[in-house]
Amino acid sequence: MERTLGLIKPDAIAAGHTGKILDHILQAGFRIVGLKMLHLSRVQAETFYAVHRERPFFESLVQFMTSGPVIAFVLEKPDAVAAYRDLMGATDPSKAAPNTLRSLYGQNIERNAVHGSDSLENARREISFFFSEAELLALETPAFSAV
Ligand code: RTP
Ligand code: MG
Repeated sequence: MERTLGLIKPDAIAAGHTGKILDHILQAGFRIVGLKMLHLSRVQAETFYAVHRERPFFESLVQFMTSGPVIAFVLEKPDAVAAYRDLMGATDPSKAAPNTLRSLYGQNIERNAVHGSDSLENARREISFFFSEAELLALETPAFSAV
């Protein structure tokens, strides 16, 4: 069993897509084992995306990610990291496969609706960035799921 960290980004929350995105994730067979809404500070957003600090889009990305609340969640499923990346689709919504979250709800390469960890190592780091151990359900505890 594997866990990954996901975010609904400010654009998708503002557009009212939160419920549809969470339902899409549940219908795809993930268990939601942690969930919260928060408004990132500049320092939090810079820390979360520190790997992109030298990229030309960094300042714009930080401004976008602090422009409104985000919803953070931890998903559980076998091969969760890769499976959730597949469900999200490509970074640029215009290149994302049909019926992926970004093709359905993303606006452009920056305002692309959702985030997902890109490796198991980053998933562990990102989960502990947003959640304490006590805020996550134990393995096999009944949780939000479609079944
Ligand atoms: P994420 O980390 O949010 O799950 O997205 P990702 O792995 O698919 O893409 P990544 O390369 O890690 O980029 C992080 C986020 O930065 C914004 N971005 N803007 N203007 C641009 O060219 C550009 N490129 C990336 C997007 O919000 C992207 O998700
Ligand atoms: Mg990334």
